[in-house]
Amino acid sequence: MIYNLGSINADLFYALPHLPQPGETLASQSFSRGLGGKGANMSVAAARAGARCAHIGAVGADGAWAVQRLMEYGVDTRLIRTSEEATGHALILVDAAGENAIVLFPGANRALSEMDLALALSEATAADIFLCQNETNLQLEGAERASALGMRVAYAAAPFDAEAVRAVLPLLDLLVLNEVEARQLEAATGRAADTLPVRDVVITLGAKGCRWHNTDTGATQDFAAPKVTPVDTTGAGDTFTGYLLAGLDRGMPMAQAIGLAQKAGALMVTRHGTADVIPDLKEVQAFTP
Ligand code: ADP
Ligand code: NA
Repeated sequence: MIYNLGSINADLFYALPHLPQPGETLASQSFSRGLGGKGANMSVAAARAGARCAHIGAVGADGAWAVQRLMEYGVDTRLIRTSEEATGHALILVDAAGENAIVLFPGANRALSEMDLALALSEATAADIFLCQNETNLQLEGAERASALGMRVAYAAAPFDAEAVRAVLPLLDLLVLNEVEARQLEAATGRAADTLPVRDVVITLGAKGCRWHNTDTGATQDFAAPKVTPVDTTGAGDTFTGYLLAGLDRGMPMAQAIGLAQKAGALMVTRHGTADVIPDLKEVQAFTP
Protein backbone atom coordinates (compact mmCIF):
# COMPACT_ATOMS: atom_id res chain seq x y z
CA MET A 1 0.00 0.00 0.00
CA ILE A 2 1.13 3.59 -0.68
CA TYR A 3 0.85 6.32 1.95
CA ASN A 4 1.10 9.67 0.17
CA LEU A 5 1.68 12.75 2.31
CA GLY A 6 0.62 15.38 -0.17
CA SER A 7 -1.05 18.63 -1.11
CA ILE A 8 -4.68 18.97 -2.13
CA ASN A 9 -5.51 22.13 -4.05
CA ALA A 10 -8.48 23.71 -5.71
CA ASP A 11 -7.30 24.94 -9.12
CA LEU A 12 -9.47 27.97 -9.84
CA PHE A 13 -9.30 29.04 -13.49
CA TYR A 14 -10.44 32.51 -14.60
CA ALA A 15 -10.46 33.46 -18.27
CA LEU A 16 -9.73 37.18 -18.79
CA PRO A 17 -9.25 39.49 -21.79
CA HIS A 18 -5.86 40.47 -20.31
CA LEU A 19 -4.05 39.99 -17.01
CA PRO A 20 -5.15 42.68 -14.50
CA GLN A 21 -3.04 45.78 -13.95
CA PRO A 22 -2.50 47.22 -10.43
CA GLY A 23 -5.78 48.75 -9.24
CA GLU A 24 -7.79 47.30 -12.10
CA THR A 25 -11.04 45.37 -11.61
CA LEU A 26 -11.74 42.86 -14.34
CA ALA A 27 -14.78 40.67 -14.98
CA SER A 28 -13.88 37.08 -15.81
CA GLN A 29 -15.40 35.58 -18.97
CA SER A 30 -15.47 32.13 -17.48
CA PHE A 31 -14.65 30.20 -14.36
CA SER A 32 -13.88 26.57 -13.70
CA ARG A 33 -12.68 24.60 -10.72
CA GLY A 34 -10.51 21.51 -10.88
CA LEU A 35 -8.83 19.21 -8.40
CA GLY A 36 -5.10 19.89 -8.21
CA GLY A 37 -2.04 19.93 -6.01
CA LYS A 38 0.93 17.71 -6.82
CA GLY A 39 0.08 15.42 -3.91
CA ALA A 40 -3.52 14.87 -5.00
CA ASN A 41 -2.41 14.31 -8.59
CA MET A 42 0.01 11.59 -7.49
CA SER A 43 -2.60 9.89 -5.30
CA VAL A 44 -5.12 9.89 -8.15
CA ALA A 45 -2.49 8.48 -10.52
CA ALA A 46 -1.50 5.72 -8.06
CA ALA A 47 -5.14 4.81 -7.41
CA ARG A 48 -6.03 4.85 -11.12
CA ALA A 49 -3.02 2.61 -11.68
CA GLY A 50 -4.69 0.10 -9.38
CA ALA A 51 -2.71 0.67 -6.19
CA ARG A 52 -4.16 1.02 -2.74
CA CYS A 53 -3.24 4.62 -1.97
CA ALA A 54 -4.07 6.41 1.27
CA HIS A 55 -3.69 10.16 1.02
CA ILE A 56 -2.32 11.92 4.13
CA GLY A 57 -3.25 15.59 4.07
CA ALA A 58 -5.71 18.27 5.03
CA VAL A 59 -8.38 20.49 3.54
CA GLY A 60 -10.44 23.31 5.04
CA ALA A 61 -14.18 23.25 5.69
CA ASP A 62 -14.50 24.41 2.05
CA GLY A 63 -12.71 21.30 0.73
CA ALA A 64 -15.26 18.50 1.12
CA TRP A 65 -15.77 18.40 -2.66
CA ALA A 66 -12.03 17.75 -3.19
CA VAL A 67 -12.05 14.84 -0.75
CA GLN A 68 -15.18 13.50 -2.43
CA ARG A 69 -13.50 13.68 -5.83
CA LEU A 70 -10.36 11.92 -4.58
CA MET A 71 -12.61 9.17 -3.23
CA GLU A 72 -14.39 8.89 -6.58
CA TYR A 73 -11.02 8.32 -8.24
CA GLY A 74 -10.31 5.46 -5.84
CA VAL A 75 -8.06 7.16 -3.29
CA ASP A 76 -8.40 6.12 0.37
CA THR A 77 -9.37 9.46 1.96
CA ARG A 78 -9.73 8.38 5.57
CA LEU A 79 -6.45 10.03 6.58
CA ILE A 80 -7.39 13.47 5.21
CA ARG A 81 -8.11 15.84 8.05
CA THR A 82 -10.36 18.91 8.08
CA SER A 83 -8.33 21.92 9.15
CA GLU A 84 -9.15 25.38 10.47
CA GLU A 85 -7.18 26.75 7.51
CA ALA A 86 -8.73 27.23 4.07
CA THR A 87 -8.17 24.51 1.48
CA GLY A 88 -4.98 25.12 -0.49
CA HIS A 89 -5.76 26.77 -3.79
CA ALA A 90 -4.27 28.18 -6.94
CA LEU A 91 -5.87 31.24 -8.51
CA ILE A 92 -5.03 30.81 -12.18
CA LEU A 93 -5.64 33.83 -14.40
CA VAL A 94 -5.45 33.08 -18.11
CA ASP A 95 -5.52 35.85 -20.76
CA ALA A 96 -6.74 35.64 -24.35
CA ALA A 97 -3.26 34.68 -25.59
CA GLY A 98 -2.99 31.84 -23.07
CA GLU A 99 -0.50 33.69 -20.86
CA ASN A 100 -1.14 33.10 -17.16
CA ALA A 101 -0.49 34.54 -13.72
CA ILE A 102 -0.92 32.32 -10.66
CA VAL A 103 -1.46 33.00 -6.96
CA LEU A 104 -0.82 29.96 -4.78
CA PHE A 105 -2.16 29.70 -1.24
CA PRO A 106 -0.91 26.61 0.64
CA GLY A 107 -3.52 26.89 3.43
CA ALA A 108 -4.41 23.55 5.02
CA ASN A 109 -1.60 21.78 3.13
CA ARG A 110 0.95 23.34 5.45
CA ALA A 111 -1.08 22.97 8.64
CA LEU A 112 -0.61 19.28 9.41
CA SER A 113 0.40 18.35 12.93
CA GLU A 114 2.83 15.68 14.09
CA MET A 115 -0.15 13.99 15.74
CA ASP A 116 -1.96 13.76 12.36
CA LEU A 117 1.12 12.15 10.90
CA ALA A 118 1.59 9.69 13.76
CA LEU A 119 -2.04 8.60 13.52
CA ALA A 120 -1.89 8.36 9.75
CA LEU A 121 1.09 6.00 9.85
CA SER A 122 -0.06 4.01 12.87
CA GLU A 123 -1.05 1.00 10.75
CA ALA A 124 1.72 1.25 8.16
CA THR A 125 4.21 -1.61 7.85
CA ALA A 126 7.57 -2.33 6.22
CA ALA A 127 5.67 -3.70 3.21
CA ASP A 128 4.26 -0.22 2.47
CA ILE A 129 5.60 2.76 0.54
CA PHE A 130 5.76 6.32 1.87
CA LEU A 131 5.66 9.12 -0.71
CA CYS A 132 5.87 12.88 -0.28
CA GLN A 133 6.67 16.07 -2.20
CA ASN A 134 7.27 19.64 -1.20
CA GLU A 135 3.80 21.20 -1.02
CA THR A 136 2.96 20.17 2.56
CA ASN A 137 4.70 20.61 5.90
CA LEU A 138 6.25 17.68 7.84
CA GLN A 139 7.90 15.84 4.91
CA LEU A 140 11.02 15.28 6.96
CA GLU A 141 9.08 14.04 10.00
CA GLY A 142 7.04 11.78 7.72
CA ALA A 143 10.13 10.37 6.04
CA GLU A 144 11.74 9.78 9.46
CA ARG A 145 8.72 7.88 10.75
CA ALA A 146 8.38 5.88 7.56
CA SER A 147 12.07 5.04 7.52
CA ALA A 148 11.93 3.91 11.17
CA LEU A 149 9.04 1.59 10.21
CA GLY A 150 11.19 0.12 7.43
CA MET A 151 8.92 1.52 4.70
CA ARG A 152 10.30 2.31 1.26
CA VAL A 153 10.63 6.11 1.26
CA ALA A 154 10.06 8.02 -1.98
CA TYR A 155 10.28 11.76 -2.59
CA ALA A 156 9.39 13.86 -5.60
CA ALA A 157 11.57 16.96 -5.31
CA ALA A 158 8.92 19.42 -6.45
CA PRO A 159 8.47 22.30 -6.14
CA PHE A 160 12.23 22.38 -5.73
CA ASP A 161 13.67 23.53 -2.41
CA ALA A 162 17.36 22.86 -1.79
CA GLU A 163 17.04 22.77 2.02
CA ALA A 164 14.02 20.45 1.97
CA VAL A 165 15.63 17.92 -0.35
CA ARG A 166 18.98 18.06 1.45
CA ALA A 167 17.28 17.29 4.78
CA VAL A 168 15.26 14.35 3.50
CA LEU A 169 17.97 12.86 1.26
CA PRO A 170 19.61 10.46 3.78
CA LEU A 171 16.22 8.82 4.40
CA LEU A 172 15.31 8.18 0.78
CA ASP A 173 15.12 4.92 -1.14
CA LEU A 174 13.77 6.61 -4.26
CA LEU A 175 14.14 10.16 -5.54
CA VAL A 176 12.16 11.37 -8.55
CA LEU A 177 13.04 14.69 -10.19
CA ASN A 178 12.61 16.38 -13.53
CA GLU A 179 15.51 17.74 -15.55
CA VAL A 180 15.28 21.26 -14.10
CA GLU A 181 15.09 19.97 -10.52
CA ALA A 182 18.07 17.68 -11.17
CA ARG A 183 20.10 20.70 -12.29
CA GLN A 184 18.97 22.72 -9.26
CA LEU A 185 19.92 19.84 -6.96
CA GLU A 186 23.34 19.58 -8.57
CA ALA A 187 23.86 23.32 -8.11
CA ALA A 188 22.79 23.06 -4.46
CA THR A 189 24.79 19.96 -3.48
CA GLY A 190 27.69 20.11 -5.91
CA ARG A 191 26.87 16.51 -6.89
CA ALA A 192 25.10 15.18 -9.94
CA ALA A 193 21.71 13.73 -8.94
CA ASP A 194 22.77 10.25 -10.06
CA THR A 195 25.77 10.24 -7.71
CA LEU A 196 23.69 10.85 -4.58
CA PRO A 197 23.53 8.23 -1.82
CA VAL A 198 19.95 7.25 -2.70
CA ARG A 199 19.33 3.69 -3.92
CA ASP A 200 17.20 4.68 -6.91
CA VAL A 201 17.20 8.05 -8.65
CA VAL A 202 14.81 8.65 -11.55
CA ILE A 203 15.22 11.82 -13.60
CA THR A 204 12.34 12.57 -15.97
CA LEU A 205 13.28 14.32 -19.20
CA GLY A 206 9.91 15.27 -20.74
CA ALA A 207 9.66 14.17 -24.38
CA LYS A 208 13.13 12.62 -24.07
CA GLY A 209 11.91 10.04 -21.56
CA CYS A 210 13.79 9.37 -18.35
CA ARG A 211 16.99 8.11 -16.77
CA TRP A 212 17.26 5.65 -13.88
CA HIS A 213 20.33 5.29 -11.72
CA ASN A 214 20.64 2.42 -9.25
CA THR A 215 23.30 2.85 -6.59
CA ASP A 216 23.51 -0.87 -5.72
CA THR A 217 24.62 -1.87 -9.21
CA GLY A 218 26.08 1.51 -10.20
CA ALA A 219 24.13 1.22 -13.46
CA THR A 220 22.41 4.07 -15.27
CA GLN A 221 19.72 3.24 -17.81
CA ASP A 222 17.99 5.56 -20.29
CA PHE A 223 14.39 5.03 -21.37
CA ALA A 224 12.94 6.70 -24.47
CA ALA A 225 9.45 8.21 -24.09
CA PRO A 226 6.56 7.07 -26.27
CA LYS A 227 6.11 9.52 -29.17
CA VAL A 228 3.00 11.67 -28.86
CA THR A 229 1.80 15.14 -29.87
CA PRO A 230 1.62 17.14 -26.64
CA VAL A 231 -1.29 19.52 -26.01
CA ASP A 232 -0.84 20.17 -22.26
CA THR A 233 2.16 18.99 -20.27
CA THR A 234 0.73 19.83 -16.82
CA GLY A 235 0.44 16.82 -14.58
CA ALA A 236 2.77 14.60 -16.63
CA GLY A 237 5.37 14.37 -13.88
CA ASP A 238 2.82 13.69 -11.13
CA THR A 239 1.11 11.03 -13.25
CA PHE A 240 4.48 9.44 -13.99
CA THR A 241 5.36 9.33 -10.27
CA GLY A 242 1.99 7.93 -9.17
CA TYR A 243 2.15 5.18 -11.80
CA LEU A 244 5.79 4.42 -11.01
CA LEU A 245 5.04 3.87 -7.34
CA ALA A 246 1.91 1.86 -8.10
CA GLY A 247 4.03 -0.44 -10.26
CA LEU A 248 6.70 -0.80 -7.58
CA ASP A 249 4.06 -1.38 -4.91
CA ARG A 250 2.72 -4.24 -7.02
CA GLY A 251 6.21 -5.76 -7.08
CA MET A 252 7.25 -4.78 -10.61
CA PRO A 253 10.97 -4.45 -11.30
CA MET A 254 11.98 -0.79 -11.73
CA ALA A 255 12.42 -0.99 -15.52
CA GLN A 256 8.91 -2.39 -15.95
CA ALA A 257 7.39 0.20 -13.59
CA ILE A 258 9.16 2.93 -15.55
CA GLY A 259 7.71 1.57 -18.80
CA LEU A 260 4.20 1.78 -17.34
CA ALA A 261 4.81 5.25 -15.87
CA GLN A 262 6.12 6.58 -19.19
CA LYS A 263 3.03 5.39 -21.05
CA ALA A 264 0.83 7.11 -18.44
CA GLY A 265 2.91 10.33 -18.61
CA ALA A 266 2.81 10.37 -22.42
CA LEU A 267 -0.96 9.81 -22.47
CA MET A 268 -1.34 12.65 -19.97
CA VAL A 269 0.35 15.23 -22.22
CA THR A 270 -2.22 14.49 -24.94
CA ARG A 271 -4.99 15.70 -22.59
CA HIS A 272 -5.98 19.11 -21.25
CA GLY A 273 -6.22 19.26 -17.45
CA THR A 274 -4.63 17.54 -14.45
CA ALA A 275 -6.11 15.28 -11.74
CA ASP A 276 -9.48 15.01 -13.45
CA VAL A 277 -8.02 13.55 -16.66
CA ILE A 278 -5.39 11.13 -15.30
CA PRO A 279 -5.84 7.89 -17.27
CA ASP A 280 -6.70 4.60 -15.60
CA LEU A 281 -4.70 1.39 -15.95
CA LYS A 282 -6.95 0.01 -18.68
CA GLU A 283 -6.40 3.10 -20.84
CA VAL A 284 -2.65 3.09 -20.19
CA GLN A 285 -2.27 -0.58 -21.06
CA ALA A 286 -4.34 -0.15 -24.24
CA PHE A 287 -2.33 2.95 -25.25
CA THR A 288 -0.19 2.39 -28.34
CA PRO A 289 1.47 5.67 -29.37
P1 ADP B 1 7.39 17.36 -15.07
O1 ADP B 1 5.95 17.43 -15.45
O2 ADP B 1 7.61 17.07 -13.62
O3 ADP B 1 8.23 18.49 -15.59
P2 ADP B 1 8.42 15.73 -17.27
O4 ADP B 1 8.05 16.83 -18.20
O5 ADP B 1 9.84 15.30 -17.25
O6 ADP B 1 7.95 16.02 -15.77
O7 ADP B 1 7.51 14.49 -17.66
C1 ADP B 1 7.40 13.32 -16.87
C2 ADP B 1 7.29 12.11 -17.77
O8 ADP B 1 6.11 12.21 -18.59
C3 ADP B 1 8.44 11.94 -18.76
O9 ADP B 1 9.52 11.22 -18.18
C4 ADP B 1 7.78 11.16 -19.88
O10 ADP B 1 7.69 9.79 -19.55
C5 ADP B 1 6.37 11.76 -19.90
N1 ADP B 1 6.32 12.89 -20.84
C6 ADP B 1 6.37 14.20 -20.54
N2 ADP B 1 6.32 14.96 -21.68
C7 ADP B 1 6.24 14.09 -22.69
C8 ADP B 1 6.16 14.22 -24.13
N3 ADP B 1 6.15 15.42 -24.73
N4 ADP B 1 6.09 13.09 -24.87
C9 ADP B 1 6.08 11.87 -24.30
N5 ADP B 1 6.16 11.68 -22.96
C10 ADP B 1 6.24 12.77 -22.17
NA1 NA C 1 -2.21 17.27 -19.37
